[in-house]
Amino acid sequence: EKGGYATFMEKEIHDQPHAVRDTLLGRTDEEGRLTLDELRIPEEKLREIDRITIVACGTAAYAGMVAKYAIERWTRIPVEVSLAHEFRYCDPIVDERTLVVSISQSGETMDTLMAVKHARELGALTISICNTHGSTIPRESDAVLYTHAGPEIAVASTKAFLAQITASYILGLYLAQLRGGTYVDDIKAVLKELAEVPGKIETVLERMGRVKEIAGFMADTRAVLFLGRHVGYPVALEGALKLKELAYIHAEGFAAGELKHGPIALIEPGQPVFVVVPSPSSEHGLHGKVVSNIQEIRARGARTLVIAEDGDEAVVPFSDEVIRVPATAPLLAPLLTVVPLQVFALWLSTAKGLDVDQPRNLAKSVTVE
Ligand code: M6R
Repeated sequence: EKGGYATFMEKEIHDQPHAVRDTLLGRTDEEGRLTLDELRIPEEKLREIDRITIVACGTAAYAGMVAKYAIERWTRIPVEVSLAHEFRYCDPIVDERTLVVSISQSGETMDTLMAVKHARELGALTISICNTHGSTIPRESDAVLYTHAGPEIAVASTKAFLAQITASYILGLYLAQLRGGTYVDDIKAVLKELAEVPGKIETVLERMGRVKEIAGFMADTRAVLFLGRHVGYPVALEGALKLKELAYIHAEGFAAGELKHGPIALIEPGQPVFVVVPSPSSEHGLHGKVVSNIQEIRARGARTLVIAEDGDEAVVPFSDEVIRVPATAPLLAPLLTVVPLQVFALWLSTAKGLDVDQPRNLAKSVTVE
């Protein structure tokens, strides 16, 4: 059942190309237009949406943070991400023109369920992005967009995360298509890029030998920092969460731009820092800004573990290790850049002799508030 792997988590990491491919499957017609028949919400209603709130917890909330960048970019609808357990208690601004998108692997997370119920009471339209057929959250929502990651057994979420991001791209592109506007012409180009992602994840997985080796030497590490910017920021948060859950190591994810507003004080000689570098093709010179961050922390003695696109030579002089991922559209990069961080957490946990699939104190789905 573990497909020849020692743990479910390792198997599920290797399932990721399939999880993304299967989640993309059957979403377009012969002309390449997105068809989300399963949504069953009248198109007029979706056209009227003027704000989107994403509610989720943990890893699913990080998928929501990635989704925000993409959906806002493609639809120009303001998107807010609310931790589901905060949502009900912050007097949320929600009405019948608000689309509340919940993201949940299990479909049973109580905090997320209560947020969805509250949103419906306030008159919002609710869509659930969910991996588990027949679970409670989809039943309590107006519509569901299923992710097709297959059952996820390991407590630490991996393939469901990639499938959630994929489904939210689909939702964003579908809304863009429905509403018309400037992005419509580019939808096909994004879909084409997305179709190439599963093969690129395979490539990343083939290269993970060195990450396993690095993790194997780090069993005594006391703290690891993760930096990312734009869509790389939620990836940094997810990398840190994986490490906390699996290796019980203090780990923090930061927005790289925050560095000089405080966290840089944490850098001391030998401190390992993962940096998720935006593609050199990113807008607004983001790539150069993150390269400067790497330079700054390296000058203070950090051990820099850098995740960068193939061919990005600018990072090399400041990196102790460069972990390469294939090039893709900047908004889609999280589907590739998070993989080395998952693999790192898996092997560091293993190096410490811990239970990878069942970390202490955690349950696969949190059905209490
Ligand atoms: O089943 P859900 O997606 O609603 O679960 C949400 C979180 O509890 C979950 O992602 C949790 O953070 C994982 N253990 C992360 O690996």
